[in-house]
Amino acid sequence: MDFQLTDEQQMIRQAARDFAQTELLSGVIARDESQSFPPELIQKMGNLGFLGMMVDPKYGGSGLDTLSYVLTMEELSKIDASASVIVSVNNSLVCWGLEAFGSEAQKEKYLSRLSTGDSLGAFCLSEPEAGSDATSQKTTAIEKGDHYILNGTKNWITNGNSADTYLVIAQTHPEKGHHGINVFIVEKGMEGFKIGPKENKLGIRGSDTHSLLFNDVKVPGENRIGEDGSGFRFAMKTLAGGRIGIAAQALGIAAGAYELAKKYAKERKSFGTEICNHQAIAFKLADMHTQIEAARYLVYKAAWDKDQGKNYDLSGAMAKLYASQVAMDTTVEAVQIHGGNGFVKDYHVERMMRDAKITQIYEGTNQIQRVVIGRKLLK
Ligand code: CAA
Repeated sequence: MDFQLTDEQQMIRQAARDFAQTELLSGVIARDESQSFPPELIQKMGNLGFLGMMVDPKYGGSGLDTLSYVLTMEELSKIDASASVIVSVNNSLVCWGLEAFGSEAQKEKYLSRLSTGDSLGAFCLSEPEAGSDATSQKTTAIEKGDHYILNGTKNWITNGNSADTYLVIAQTHPEKGHHGINVFIVEKGMEGFKIGPKENKLGIRGSDTHSLLFNDVKVPGENRIGEDGSGFRFAMKTLAGGRIGIAAQALGIAAGAYELAKKYAKERKSFGTEICNHQAIAFKLADMHTQIEAARYLVYKAAWDKDQGKNYDLSGAMAKLYASQVAMDTTVEAVQIHGGNGFVKDYHVERMMRDAKITQIYEGTNQIQRVVIGRKLLK
């Protein structure tokens, strides 16, 4: 076993760390409050290659491995989980899905813009009545010669308004169940495509989440990705990789909150000494650090599986399940260690606690991760 990162991986981690410190930290509280994320900041992440990290350089990507992507996600998430979810959705769900399943023409037209930040992507699977039960899609795309007519509603879509390229999953043959599902590239501005109001969220408030409404949207046949009926497999395989990205986000939130709590515990005094000298606090830090290290190895192992061409459905689900629990537990403890200051926005940890919660919900709730893990183990 080799626990050493390569020079290149260390360099990428440092670049992400520097970017988070210099570009993300100063405005993170304001973005959380105003529920906004400046497009220029997204473009800067694109310029640094953070938006198409694993994409082949011939399509404008950085051509890096999954571990480098995970390290980047971890560093960005230590400071701003809203920035990292933008990165995660664009990399894991949109770019990866297009590169793995798209045609050459689709890659040339869309991927090179998506991987550089000239364009931003959204992944549209969830519906008002199809969240965990993802096969129950009600959105339809009915074939009419050389195009499809798309009708339906998608919910809780990350990058809902800031995106301009949407991968929309829809039923083309409802009678065939999940074998009658396809995925389409839909562009912002297509007639009949409307973006609903922005959701007012508990956490990751900088990233925009919207419902999307499709009313007789005419989508060219050439915008269907992959073979007819392959949309559900596309969604499942893409989400399996996406879960590694969200696991890395959870790891980063946990690690960021732990670092702040440790620093605070070494500065804040009570009963005549720094509070880290009280076992009540030192034991919390010991547990937090141990759990974060355990989460880190699950996340890196899932990334390694993917890079080795091994199946990562199980390791990705385990990484997300565990890391998101660690993110929740660690951020709650970080608030506790900060005491009254933990409840105040300036100290960051209350935001991190709010941000952590979504990692247990999106890209498959923790209950769904247990379904995936259980089925893999028992099959
Ligand atoms: N890779 C490839 N194919 C897969 C797969 C995988 N990892 N997992 C399942 N499939 C295939 C199966 O082989 C099966 O195909 P066949 O019938 O041809 O064999 C098909 O998919 C259906 O599989 P299941 O019978 O297991 O389906 P199910 O109805 O029991 O559901 C589930 C399985 C795991 C619960 C799935 O519905 C699921 O993952 N639900 C959660 C959905 C989810 O993660 N949503 C997140 C929304 S996106 C988001 O949050 C993004 C964001 O904005 C941040």
